[in-house]
Amino acid sequence: MKGCEAEGFSPEAFQVVDRRGCDVAPVDAATEAGAAYLTSFVWPWQLDRHARLAAALRVAREHPVVVDRARASAWVAERLAEPVGEEVLTVVWHSVTRLYWPVEETGAMNAAVEEARGRMPLAHIAMEHRWDAPPGDADPGMPFIEVDGEAIATCDHHGPPVTFHR
Ligand SMILES: C[S@@+](CC[C@H](N)C(=O)[O-])C[C@H]1O[C@@H](n2cnc3c(N)ncnc32)[C@H](O)[C@@H]1O
Repeated sequence: MKGCEAEGFSPEAFQVVDRRGCDVAPVDAATEAGAAYLTSFVWPWQLDRHARLAAALRVAREHPVVVDRARASAWVAERLAEPVGEEVLTVVWHSVTRLYWPVEETGAMNAAVEEARGRMPLAHIAMEHRWDAPPGDADPGMPFIEVDGEAIATCDHHGPPVTFHR
């Protein structure tokens, strides 16, 4: 990640062995209609976001990923119950969705992750708003980047710039 080294983080090389996602109302980003639909949500003058989205849509077309129609916590619990290869770090990632969840969904997600953590290497990464914004200079109205529940950075509503807290 740009700027990580300056903040004391050292990115390591890794290989993605599998990906899968869910949404209660998924959009197939690999189709022309899905790409146009997603592009329509970005204001026309936000050229940086358009460039990032266009790059992401290219990746989605070249490496399509299944996105199931499902609620987050039940779907994650089912996925985490599946066997996983040795030396695989499972990453549970979600962004700008928790603020729409009922409180039970957040509790069930955290419980599913904690239950699985005892059985496999696992990282829970999120880019989400928090109701309990940690103390400090960070704007509580902006999303936080969380690693295993700890807020390590803040970012803009739609991603960069990322400001690390340490
Ligand atoms: C603002 S969009 C963010 C989409 C995407 N995660 C991103 O970062 O670009 C919020 C998404 O959360 C989905 N959503 C809301 N409640 C959900 C739930 N309980 N389980 C799974 N997805 C949910 C909505 O359908 C919507 O696509």
